[in-house]
Amino acid sequence: MTLSESLPMTEPAADHAGIDLAAFPHDFAWGTATSAYQIEGAVDEDGRAPSIWDTFTRVPGAIDGGHTGDTACDHYHRWPEDIALMRQLGTNAYRLSVAWPRVLPGGDGPANAKGLDFYDRLVDGLLAAGIEPSVTLYHWDLPQTLQDRGGWPERATAEHFAAYAALVARRLGDRVTQWATLNEPLCSAWIGHLEGKMAPGRTDLTAAVRTSYHLLLGHGLATQAIRAAAPGARIGIVNNLSTVEPATDSDADRAAARRMDGHVNRWWLDPVHGRGFPADMREVYAVDLPERPGDLAAIAAPLDWTGLNYYFPQVVTADPAGPAPFARQIERPGVPRTGMDWEVDADGLETLIMRLTEEYGARRIHITENGSSYPDTVAPDGSVHDPERTAYLTAHLAACARAARRGAPVAGYYAWSLLDNFEWAYGYDKRFGLVHVDYATQRRTVKSSGRRYAGIIAAHRSG
Ligand code: FCB
Repeated sequence: MTLSESLPMTEPAADHAGIDLAAFPHDFAWGTATSAYQIEGAVDEDGRAPSIWDTFTRVPGAIDGGHTGDTACDHYHRWPEDIALMRQLGTNAYRLSVAWPRVLPGGDGPANAKGLDFYDRLVDGLLAAGIEPSVTLYHWDLPQTLQDRGGWPERATAEHFAAYAALVARRLGDRVTQWATLNEPLCSAWIGHLEGKMAPGRTDLTAAVRTSYHLLLGHGLATQAIRAAAPGARIGIVNNLSTVEPATDSDADRAAARRMDGHVNRWWLDPVHGRGFPADMREVYAVDLPERPGDLAAIAAPLDWTGLNYYFPQVVTADPAGPAPFARQIERPGVPRTGMDWEVDADGLETLIMRLTEEYGARRIHITENGSSYPDTVAPDGSVHDPERTAYLTAHLAACARAARRGAPVAGYYAWSLLDNFEWAYGYDKRFGLVHVDYATQRRTVKSSGRRYAGIIAAHRSG
């Protein structure tokens, strides 16, 4: 793809009515986000070992279409072209994740030089393009060898994670300042160990609660390790939060909403902000936490920023017969939904940003993911026109700007995703990219949402 093929990239500022761009600071991070397993491919190249996702994608029926991340977007080989796409969009930031099994194939022990070299080149390429890397250390791809030794339900995994974080920070910390420890620990714990719909595919509440504890402990230990290895580092954690409302005014539904809020929001935010694990949720789970003295202080290590991934709101009803937290989401008729069947509610993003600001005292907030999947079609002329994704993007940016206007320290927005990619259990059929990927040819095409994003960024810059 050449630059001229997808020009004109931008649209006039008038098209951005509804987004109060002046509410964003001048040094706002305009980014896109991806994760290693979803785009890299090259799963057995240059010494990479399998992760739990390589294993899980081999479980019959686990992934729609039987898809795997074996090739994905072939980003491992095509990263220069992907950086060129970021430049075309005009972004100045990029959130990527490092694959633990690529740089430490044994989980612990000796580093894999070729794996580290890959991220080294990628970081240099980004910086040369004027794009600041934001590096997430764990986006769900635990080395399978650590899973074989018990995985996240075991405390040792948290300790190995800290050692791995130190290794990467030592190597990249002279150029990378923006670090995230974990991506969406909720998904690793609740979806991976309780619902069984993500790797490693377990359905065991005790394992899930122990996983949640060790993930947060790993976050705290890794935070210390990164600070020691890279003194200029700015460290955060990335959580996916939802607004939670009761389906009716009944006591049962209101209690259910409180439990769901505990399950998806407070369980993850409270310990990191020095409040410990929520007492009501400890009762709901009724699983002993593997606590040791000093752990809570480690988990509450001061952070430089908070990452918020936002996709959808939740309206819930009591479900006493269901699994913890005995509450389930209902489908509201007439509410617009994306191709994932997720409700669209941009106001929810504003609400959550304000909650992080007012209730948790966040000092710097990055929207580390936000985006939508729709079934795109490629027009005969090769273009991809995606008005629904464009509307979703615009409405959510407007919500960020409203929060910024209300005083929230919104420092950046990373659209999920740069590219269509391997959408976990849904395989390749769910497309979130601002850039379309034809998987047969690996051809990339900027969608109209990508052009809109470029226009918004350009308008902010010239404003
Ligand atoms: C988030 C994940 C990301 C992507 C989006 C759609 O939960 O962090 O990898 O799958 O959802």
